[in-house]
Amino acid sequence: MLRFLTAGESHGPVLTAIVEGMVSGLPISASYVNEQLARRQGGYGRGGRMKIEKDQVQFLSGVRGGFTTGSPITLQISNRDWANWSEIMASGGEAKLTERVVTRPRPGHADLAGAIKYNQRDIRNILERASARETAARVAVGTLGRRLLEEMGITIVGFVRRIGSVEAALKDNWQANELKEKANNSQLLCPDASAEAAMMKEIDRAREQGDSLGGVFEIHAYGVPIGLGSHVHWDRKLDSRLAGALMGIQAIKGVEIGLGFTAAALPGSQVHDEIFYSPDLGFYRRTNGAGGIEGGISNGEPIVVRAAMKPIPTLYKPLLSVDINSKEAFAASVERSDVCAVPAACVVGEAVVSWELAAVMLEKFGGDSLEEIKERVKQWQLRIRQV
Ligand SMILES: Cc1cc2nc3c(=O)[nH]c(=O)nc-3n(C[C@H](O)[C@H](O)[C@H](O)COP(=O)(O)O)c2cc1C
Repeated sequence: MLRFLTAGESHGPVLTAIVEGMVSGLPISASYVNEQLARRQGGYGRGGRMKIEKDQVQFLSGVRGGFTTGSPITLQISNRDWANWSEIMASGGEAKLTERVVTRPRPGHADLAGAIKYNQRDIRNILERASARETAARVAVGTLGRRLLEEMGITIVGFVRRIGSVEAALKDNWQANELKEKANNSQLLCPDASAEAAMMKEIDRAREQGDSLGGVFEIHAYGVPIGLGSHVHWDRKLDSRLAGALMGIQAIKGVEIGLGFTAAALPGSQVHDEIFYSPDLGFYRRTNGAGGIEGGISNGEPIVVRAAMKPIPTLYKPLLSVDINSKEAFAASVERSDVCAVPAACVVGEAVVSWELAAVMLEKFGGDSLEEIKERVKQWQLRIRQV
């Protein structure tokens, strides 16, 4: 079983993750993970924090000579901002607990509900962990999953579909590599260049107005074999697992698989993917409204998932709130914040989808070493071609 935990505060010394259950023999390097961490930090519309942090992963266990050993893997990412916060965030009695105290909850954040739930008078004890800084750890972990998937011929491509009111158009004939290249060449991870320009204008307008924007990103997984996940129980369904992983990202408020919400407005004849057979291709489809999953099981078509991100809750245009001590009303003000972080959220989305698919691959095929699992995947692919 593949599992992980992350720990660390936004202004603490480090973010840490422990991964357990990864096969041995997987080639992995810090630079491979750092590439994804850098992608998470990019994107037009980000705030000042991204200029401070240059995320770099360190492997503290479980990797030797460039290969996983099968032991638990400890990943660590330092917070450069720690130098400015070490006195306030110190773990011992020397911590300056009366400085930079937060008593004004920001609408749209975990601040108020978290402070009440955990009985905290300083909201910092909530926001430090609720912050999306934590997603750096999830990107590092998910990148291990992505590496494993690559070894088995599975490619993950993520891109931005919508920012605010601007929607990207997608050409049906774009292949995985073309889509990936177009997205990665864009500051907004948007493969449609004219939509990208309009999105940038919309971000500039939001910034000028002291406002923020959300949007939609989409992830495709190519090369996924038939048979991942299961119909037999709700928590084994692949769509349920992917939706849970995506909804676990800060600010994600909706997930669609395949046609998603669009399917609700269409007749069945325009939604379901007819089944064809040829001796060369085996069973195949000409459409993919199901997004590669039927009955909670991958059906061999590309997996297509989409996630909706709400606008960033910290606004330069103040929103009304109430101080938790004085109970007086105030207008929430801002230190520094992203205006739009949909491209960054997309990179996090790619990571969590990679992780979930790597986990279901290991559940289906088992094995303790890369060689073992690759052999089993090969056998399965031969077998399903003979059905
Ligand atoms: C990559 C990424 C960057 C984010 N950056 C910010 C930010 O700069 N300011 C902010 O207020 N919220 C930001 N958020 C959103 C908040 O973390 C999130 O809305 C908050 O923790 C409350 O959680 P919820 O929206 O899931 O309810 C970001 C989210 C992601 C995924």
